[in-house]
Amino acid sequence: MFFERRAVIKHQKGLHTRVAAMVIQRSHELSTKYETAISFKYNEREKILANSLMLLCSLKIKVGDEIWVSASGEHGELVVNQMVEFLESDFQLTNFQTISEVDKLLEENAFTAQQVFDSMANGLMVSDEEDVITVFNPAAEEILGIRASAVVGKKVYDVIPNSRLHIVNKTGIAELACRQIVENSITITNRTPIKIDGKVKGAVAIFEDISALEKVTWELHEIKEMKERLQLILESVQDGICVLNKEGYITYVNPAYVRIIDEQYKELVGKNVYEISPEGARCTVLKTGKQMVDSISHKSGGVTVVANVNPIIVDGELTGAVSVVKDITEVHNLMEKLNRISAKAQYLEEELWRTRKPNSAFEHFIGASGKVMDALAMATKAAQGSSTVLIRGESGTGKELVAEGIHYASPWAQGPFIRVNCGAIPANLLESELFGHEKGAFTGAVRRKLGKFELANKGTIFLDEIGEMEKNMQVKLLRVLQKREFERVGGETTIKVNVRIIAATNQNLEEMVAQSVFRDDLYYRLNVIPLLLPPLRERKEDIPLLVEHFLAKVSSELSRRVKGIRREALEVLRNYSWPGNVRELENIIERVVTLTEGDYIEIGHLPAYLREGMPSEKQEMGDLFTQDVILPWEEYEKKIIQQALNKYGSFNRAGKALGLTHKTVAAKAQKYRIEKSVSW
Ligand SMILES: Nc1ncnc2c1ncn2[C@@H]1O[C@H](COP(=O)(O)OP(=O)(O)OP(=O)(O)O)[C@@H](O)[C@H]1O
Ligand SMILES: [Mg+2]
Repeated sequence: MFFERRAVIKHQKGLHTRVAAMVIQRSHELSTKYETAISFKYNEREKILANSLMLLCSLKIKVGDEIWVSASGEHGELVVNQMVEFLESDFQLTNFQTISEVDKLLEENAFTAQQVFDSMANGLMVSDEEDVITVFNPAAEEILGIRASAVVGKKVYDVIPNSRLHIVNKTGIAELACRQIVENSITITNRTPIKIDGKVKGAVAIFEDISALEKVTWELHEIKEMKERLQLILESVQDGICVLNKEGYITYVNPAYVRIIDEQYKELVGKNVYEISPEGARCTVLKTGKQMVDSISHKSGGVTVVANVNPIIVDGELTGAVSVVKDITEVHNLMEKLNRISAKAQYLEEELWRTRKPNSAFEHFIGASGKVMDALAMATKAAQGSSTVLIRGESGTGKELVAEGIHYASPWAQGPFIRVNCGAIPANLLESELFGHEKGAFTGAVRRKLGKFELANKGTIFLDEIGEMEKNMQVKLLRVLQKREFERVGGETTIKVNVRIIAATNQNLEEMVAQSVFRDDLYYRLNVIPLLLPPLRERKEDIPLLVEHFLAKVSSELSRRVKGIRREALEVLRNYSWPGNVRELENIIERVVTLTEGDYIEIGHLPAYLREGMPSEKQEMGDLFTQDVILPWEEYEKKIIQQALNKYGSFNRAGKALGLTHKTVAAKAQKYRIEKSVSW
C-alpha cells in the first residue's frame, strides 16, 4: 500500500544541517521499525530516499516550504503520518540518546566529505570569507608541490596569490576553464565563489594537471600533421604505391599507381590480391613476410612495371605489405633495342676481325723494297709468338709503326697498346709511371695510380727509346721481363701481368753495353727478336710509293686533291740522303702540299737544300738541245731511255720512272741498241 502526505516546514531555520540530521535519524528509526522506505519529494525535484543527510541538506528547504512524504507497505500510512508530524514539529531534542545519534550522523557526514576531498584526483582548494585557506587536498599538494600544512589557515593572497581565490571571493564571479602553467606542468582550473543564501562566503578552486593530456594532444596534432605530409608526398611521387592489409585487401593506392596500372581508383581499393593476382609478388610477400625486389611484371596495354614489395611489420607481426612500382615500359623497350644493337655490333666486330689478315696490321707501313719486305716478314712472324721484340733503326724509320703492327697482328690484339717513351719521362717518375704507386707512396701521391704495365695487361707495352733508361730502372725492368711481376711504388702486393713487351731504340745498344751504360742482362732479355728497319737512303726505290701515300694522306686531311709529283721533283727526292728518314719525307710532302696550290708538285716547290748537289735539268738533257735544230723523235727517245737506264740500272725501275712498262723499256733499249750495263 502506497501512501503520500504533504508536510509544511514550520521550523524557523528550515531544514538546516542539524535539523536535517534529526529528520534523517527519525526516518531511519521509522524505516527500521516498520520495515519500509520513506521518500521525500520537494518542488519539481526528483523523489529522494530519506536516508542521505547530504542530499537532504542540498535541497535547502526553508520555513513554509512543502515536502511530500511517501511510503508504502502495510504500515505506510502510519509511517507517513508520523514523519509528517515530525517534520511539522519544532524539532526539540528530547533525549541524550537521540542527540548522540544525530551528532554521530553529522560527524560521519563530515568525515565522508573529508574522505571525498582526500581521494579526489583533482586538486581542491577552498578559502573562506576572510580569504583564509580552509581546504587543500593531497592532489592539490601533489600538483602544486606545496604541503597543506604550509598554506591552510593562511591568507590566499599571501601564500598562493595566483590561485585568485581572493579575487573570486571579492567579485563573486566564477572563472572557468583557466589554463595555467604551474611548476613545469599545465593545469586547468575552475574557480567558483561559494554562495550561501545569495552571499559570497568564500571561494573554491578545482584544478587538474593536464600535462599528460596536453602531451597526447600535441602528439596527436603532430601525427595528424605528419599524416598530411605523408599523404602529400605519396600523392606527388612518380612511383606507384599500393598498400595492402594482411588479408590481401588493397587499402590505399596513390595517383601514380592508378596512372601506371591504368585503372580506376575505385576499382582497385577494396580488391583482394589473392583474387586479382594470386601468383604475384604481393601475395608471395604476404605469405612469406619477406621483401621482394625488382620483380618485373607485364600489365595490360603493354605496360611493363618493376616492383619492390615490402612486408609491413608492426611489433614483430605482419600487418600487410606495400608495393612500390615503376613504369619501365620505355626502359624495357630501349633495353631490348640495345640488346639487339649490341648483338649486331658484336657480330660486326667479329666479322671485322675475321677479314683482317695477320699482316694487314702492317698495311700502314709503306714499302716494297727487299729490305722492307724482309723486316715485315720478320715482324709478322714475331707477332705470332710471345717473345720480346727489339726494334732498331734510325730516327723516323717507322719503329713505332712496326711496333703497333706487331701488336695488331698478335694474339694480344684485342687488348690495349700502351706506349711509354722512356726518354721523355724524368728518371724519378719513370718507376711510378711504369709500375704505378699506392696512395701516400710519396709527396703528391694523393691517390693510387695504376702503372703502364697494369694498364697494358692482356695487351702490349711498347717501351720506346729504351736506351734512355737509367741503370737502376733497368734492374727493375729486368725483373718484369723475367717474371712478369712487380710491386707498385709504396705497395707490398705483387702484381702479375700478362703483357707482350716490345722495345725500340735508335741508339747503339751494343756500344752502350760495352761502356757499361746499358745492362747486358737486360740487353739479352730484350734482344730476343731483333728487328732492324733500314734507313730510307738504303731503300730509295720506296720513295715514289711513300710520296704517293703521303700525298693521298695529306690531300684527304686538307681535302684538296694533289694529283702527283713531277718526275724531276721526284728525282730530287730520290737523290737526297734523308737523314731524317720517312718522317722527314712525310714532313716535306705535308709542307709542300700545304704551301702550294698547283695540281702537281714541281721541283721549284721543294726546299732548296734538297736540290743542292743535283745536276741541273739543263745539264742532264743538255747535249740534246745544244743544236738549234729539232731532231727526229727517235733521237730524243733513244737519249731518254739511255739516261733512264744509266740512272736506274734496271728496265723495271727505269720503266717506273718513265711511266712505261719494263717490257717497253727493254724493247726500246733493244731497238736503239743500248747497253744496259754500261755505267753500273
Ligand atoms: N714505312 C712507313 N710508311 C708510312 N709511314 C711511315 C713509315 N715509316 C715511318 N712513317 C711515318 O713517319 C713518322 C715517324 O715514324 P715512327 O714514329 O714510327 O718512327 P720511329 O722510328 O719511331 O722514329 P723515332 O726513333 O724518332 O721515334 C710517322 O709519322 C710514321 O707514320
Ligand atoms: Mg719512335
